[in-house]
Amino acid sequence: MTEYLINLARFVSYNEKKEIYRDLKNKGYFVSNDSWSYRRLIVNKPVKNKPFVASLIELKETFYQNNLSQTIDRLSKYKIKEIKAKIERNVPFHSKAITERYLKKYKFDPEGETIYLEARLEKDKVAIRLGFYLDDKENIPVKKEVVYPDIGIESPFTLGEVGDFLRLSKTFKTKVFIFTLNDPDCLNNIQNFLKENSFDKGNITIVKDIESFRNEYEIIGFSMWGKDPLETIIKNKEKKKLLLFGNERRGLLKKTMDQCNKIIKIGSSSEPLRATQAASFALGYIFSKEN
Ligand SMILES: C[S@@+](CC[C@H](N)C(=O)[O-])C[C@H]1O[C@@H](n2cnc3c(N)ncnc32)[C@H](O)[C@@H]1O
Repeated sequence: MTEYLINLARFVSYNEKKEIYRDLKNKGYFVSNDSWSYRRLIVNKPVKNKPFVASLIELKETFYQNNLSQTIDRLSKYKIKEIKAKIERNVPFHSKAITERYLKKYKFDPEGETIYLEARLEKDKVAIRLGFYLDDKENIPVKKEVVYPDIGIESPFTLGEVGDFLRLSKTFKTKVFIFTLNDPDCLNNIQNFLKENSFDKGNITIVKDIESFRNEYEIIGFSMWGKDPLETIIKNKEKKKLLLFGNERRGLLKKTMDQCNKIIKIGSSSEPLRATQAASFALGYIFSKEN
């Protein structure tokens, strides 16, 4: 019987896991707890489109290895596109070593599977579990990818603003440019923030000003004082677009607005949105027109 491993999403509490277990059983699944981790369940059929499934893996084999070469040999049986390894801390090798050793002897195949490899120590022996990730093929609905314009923010005052744009970059897979306008405090602040935090930074680049962007981009500024309606955002499809937002305190500078190809105002209120609210609304508008 094929077994499937469910890695439960981070939001699932201990009691909710019990609920999920019961629900799956009531729906006719064979369910068991995974002895490797309490954050997982093992089932006999794939569970699709459920937010509590962080990842779904079709288990292939479990074995004890005497040395890493044995595991590399086992991996050679499969057509592999990528190896994603979860290695417990007390195992005497790390995940990078597996990929490096594999690539010394074999090649990745773009048509192959993403391999799930898990290793843990069991009474001085290294136990290995191998499987195929099913998420990308079965769990995520296929959708057309919208390519969003690049985004910029001018001299953000607070790290909260930088963090919010970082979220946008990750969610919409956009490039984010932070324009520091030669302000050394702003530059230092942001550089330290990005250096100190080890999270995924998205695609953020720190730049001085928009001067060098004018040839390559249509620069679309956003301001309370703008005269262009949001609809004009999708005109001029030939040129790359940069959506440019001002900081919390004073918005875009006049000098910057003079360099923009148009200045858009969203809505008719005199109360400003936060820059990322305005950016999200603009990106949502583009999404609605592309679908
Ligand atoms: C909090 S607002 C800045 C408020 C600033 N005191 C001002 O008067 O511009 C931050 C940025 O969000 C964008 N923004 C906020 N509301 C907007 C709206 N209704 N239309 C277009 N852009 C907006 C602008 O880029 C603005 O610079």
